[in-house]
Amino acid sequence: MKHKSEVDKFEFALDNPVFKVISDILDKNKKEAYLIGGFVRDLILKRNSKDVDIVIVGSGMELAKQTARQLKGNIKVSFFKNFGTAMFNYKGIEYEFVGARKESYSRESRNPVVENGSLQDDQNRRDLTINALGISLKKENYGELIDPFNGLDDIKNKVICTPLEPDITFSDDPLRMMRAVRFASQLNFNIDKKTFDSIKKNKSRIKIITKERIIEELHKIVKSPKPSIGFKLLYDVGLLELIFPELYKLHGVEIRNGVSHKDNFLHTILVVDNIAKNTDNIWLRWAAVFHDIGKPRSKKFVNNIWTFHAHDAIGKNMLPSIFRKMKLPLNDKLKYIQKLVALHLRPIHLSDSDITDSAIRRLLFDAGNEVDDLMTLCEADITSSKEYKVKKFFKNFAIVRQKLKDVEERDAIRNWQPPIEGLEIMKTLNLPPSKDVGIVKDAIKDAILDGEIENSYQAAHKFMLNYASKHLNKE
Ligand code: CTP
Repeated sequence: MKHKSEVDKFEFALDNPVFKVISDILDKNKKEAYLIGGFVRDLILKRNSKDVDIVIVGSGMELAKQTARQLKGNIKVSFFKNFGTAMFNYKGIEYEFVGARKESYSRESRNPVVENGSLQDDQNRRDLTINALGISLKKENYGELIDPFNGLDDIKNKVICTPLEPDITFSDDPLRMMRAVRFASQLNFNIDKKTFDSIKKNKSRIKIITKERIIEELHKIVKSPKPSIGFKLLYDVGLLELIFPELYKLHGVEIRNGVSHKDNFLHTILVVDNIAKNTDNIWLRWAAVFHDIGKPRSKKFVNNIWTFHAHDAIGKNMLPSIFRKMKLPLNDKLKYIQKLVALHLRPIHLSDSDITDSAIRRLLFDAGNEVDDLMTLCEADITSSKEYKVKKFFKNFAIVRQKLKDVEERDAIRNWQPPIEGLEIMKTLNLPPSKDVGIVKDAIKDAILDGEIENSYQAAHKFMLNYASKHLNKE
C-alpha cells in the first residue's frame, strides 16, 4: 500500500542534503533506492534515530561511494564486502547502504544465503511490519511511503506483527522473537495473536542464537520505559524459562494451611517498573531485576509462615555464575549489583526500628558511594497494594535518607577507611601477618562505627593497645 499524503509529513526529515544527493544520483543512473527499516519507523513515531538505512535495487557499495564523493568534506566510506554493505558517517549520523536482498536461512544458523532482489523481496524478509516500511528517494515519487504490509496502520494501532507468516519469519531468524517482545516493551505495543502464538510455538529455536545477541535485547527491555511489559511477554510466550531460568523460577504462589506468599516474579517486574521511573542507570535497573533472585533457594515454611531467610546473601552469591552464563559483564558492574542485592534489606530493617547513629554509620560504611542507589532500589521495592503501608514505608525511608545525610555530614563515613592500617597494627603489636591483625582492624572499625570511640588516630591507637592487651593471646 502506498501513501502519497505522507510526503508532507516527512518534509522536514527529507530535506536532508544526503537524501537529495542520492536522489540526483538515482535519477542520472535510472536506479531506485529507499529509506528503510528503523529509520522510517522512528520517523513516523517521532523518535530520534542516529542510523539511516538505505536500500538500493543494485549495488549499495556503488551508491555509497558516489554519494560520499558528491557530499562536501572528505568522507570515509567503510565497505563490508561479505555483507555487500557500505557505510559512512556524515554530521554525526550513520548512513548504511545495502543492495535489496532476497534471503533464505539454513535451519541451524542465522547466516543467510543472500541473493539480489527487488524492494518487495527486501521488505518481505524483514522482521516486523513496522520495520518493513520504505520511503522512496526516486525523483518522481520522492518521499512516498511504500508500505506493502500495512505497517503504518500497525504503528497507529500499536501492533507488533510479522510481514509474512510468523513461522517463516521466526524460523528464518529466531532472534526476531526477542525483537518482537523488545519492541512491544519499548513502544508499549501489543503482539498480534498469530505472531504471539508463533513465538510460543517456535520458542525453542532461540537456542541457535548467541548469548551476546540475547543480552542485547534484554538490555533494551530493561532500558524501556516500562520493562515489565517485556518481561511479562517473555514469560507468557515461554522464552523467559529458556533464556533466564533464575528469573522465571520466581513465578508462582504456594499455599500451605491457607497461608500464601506473593508471586515474586510479578513483584520483581513491578519493582523494575518503579525504579525505571526514577533512574536511567541501566545497572541500577538490573539490580532491581536481580534483587530477589535468591528467593526460590531460600524459601521455607516455618511455624506457619513463609520465610526467605538470607535471600539477599544467597542472591549475591548466585550472581557471578548467572552473569557468566548470560554474558553480562564480570567487572565492576557485577560487584555493584552484588553490593546492592546483598544490602537491599538493610534500609527496610532500619526504617522498622528506632534508627541509631551507629546503624546509619554501618550502612554508610558498607554501601559507600552506592548508598543513594541503594535507597532508590529500596523505595522501588515497596509494592504493597495497601496504600497506608506504602505511605508508612515512604515516610520511614525519608527519615532514613535524612539521617544518612546528617550522619554523613558529621562523620564523613562514606568511603571512609579506619585510621589505623594492618601494617601499623603488625608493627605496634609485633604481630606476624595473621588472623589477629584482621581481628584488631575490625575491632577498631566497629568501635568507631558504633560510636564507642571518636573517629581519630589518637583514639584508635589507644583503643588498639587496650584491645590487644585484653583480647590477644600472648605466648
Ligand atoms: N532486521 C530484521 N531482522 C533482524 C534484525 C533487523 O529484519 N533480526 C531489519 C529490520 O527491518 C530493522 C532493520 O533490519 O528495522 C535494522 O535493524 P537494526 O538496526 O538492528 O534495528 P532497528 O530496527 O533500527 O532498531 P534498533 O536500532 O532499536 O535495534
